[in-house]
Amino acid sequence: MAKVNRNYLKLPDSYLFSRIGKKVREYGAAHPEARIIRLGIGDVTQPLAPAVISALQDAVEEMGKGETFRGYAPDLGYEFLRVAAAENDYRMRGCSISPDEIFISDGAKCDCGNLQEIFGTDNTIAVCDPVYPVYVDSNVMAGRTGEYDRSTGRFRNVIYLPCRAENGFVPELPGEVPDLIYLCFPNNPTGAVITKERLQQWVDYANEHGSVILYDAAYEAYISDEKIPHSIYECEGARTCAIEFRSFSKTAGFTGLRLGFTVVPEDLLVEGVALHSLWARRHGTKYNGAPYIVQRAGEAVYSEEGKRQGQAQIAYYMENAGIIAGELKAAGYEVSGGINAPYIWLRTPGSMTSWEFFDYLLEEANVVGTPGSGFGPNGEHYFRLTAFGSRENTIEAMERIRTMQTGAQ
Ligand code: MLT
Repeated sequence: MAKVNRNYLKLPDSYLFSRIGKKVREYGAAHPEARIIRLGIGDVTQPLAPAVISALQDAVEEMGKGETFRGYAPDLGYEFLRVAAAENDYRMRGCSISPDEIFISDGAKCDCGNLQEIFGTDNTIAVCDPVYPVYVDSNVMAGRTGEYDRSTGRFRNVIYLPCRAENGFVPELPGEVPDLIYLCFPNNPTGAVITKERLQQWVDYANEHGSVILYDAAYEAYISDEKIPHSIYECEGARTCAIEFRSFSKTAGFTGLRLGFTVVPEDLLVEGVALHSLWARRHGTKYNGAPYIVQRAGEAVYSEEGKRQGQAQIAYYMENAGIIAGELKAAGYEVSGGINAPYIWLRTPGSMTSWEFFDYLLEEANVVGTPGSGFGPNGEHYFRLTAFGSRENTIEAMERIRTMQTGAQ
């Protein structure tokens, strides 16, 4: 008789953003007149850059001709894209990562979720609290987290690293040593960033204890402060303890096109086994690669034109972030993030819980955000807004919030 993976039964009923989507659809159906502004899921709204569109068109033409048609992509991804990423994302920042250490995929979410497969189920994991839910949920599915404790809102075998206003939303090194450590900077959901010195402490800690850091750098393109590292490989010793996830979603507006990559350095060994060879084995077995046309579009992101156009998009979203943070502060909200990151993290007014504020904002202002508690218990009484809306919607959302019946005061 077939048996289900009972670990799935430990998960919340639905993924955070699916739950939000359902609530918003229900509200919209009951209030068809409402013009809802979505600043919840971090989904981009600006069209793809002209350099990307032109590369896509050229690649489509190639696929229509016998002499340039392409079938399956190489296991690691096309060399042209891996070379461009190694050069622009790493060598130009003084990091030593070779194209053969880069695995192209259809996005960082899949890689963040799948990478845990190359580790034994007896590894302990540490995550920030609050945290992007994929890290925890994918480990729950694999049976690595133990039972869910309703009284604490936490899984028993997970080491949670509190990220609160008191520590600037940057976690402290844990006393109990985890085997796998998930870090994401610039952070989703808080928008906090980590200095190179603090990140170096994590790298030293991981090397000293034999832990592996899974570093999600999906939002690195939003860093404007020169002192903030874009990659964990800017730290000395990271090649022997860290894997890094990168995404084209927020960097170049590829949320609908799908492209990302994961870096697994060849000198990263666990129990004498090269993780690079395990991830290569997994990639080759379960994945047939991102489409050729999308990889060509990714290559165009690194062209001079593509970089200029991409930076203009990021500047646009960061101007939105400035508007949101400024307006919320003026309305009396306690606000952080939104400076080197596209997420604004605010304290809910009075004693409102995150979900109460979600409902309140939806009903009073027809604005959708993300409840902080959906990212973990330490996110309770916080709320996330994204800078990825259009300028018009961002300004209107702030006007509506400013004129809501109950302010933050
Ligand atoms: C978010 O809103 O946290 C992100 O868009 C989710 C994701 O990138 O998968």
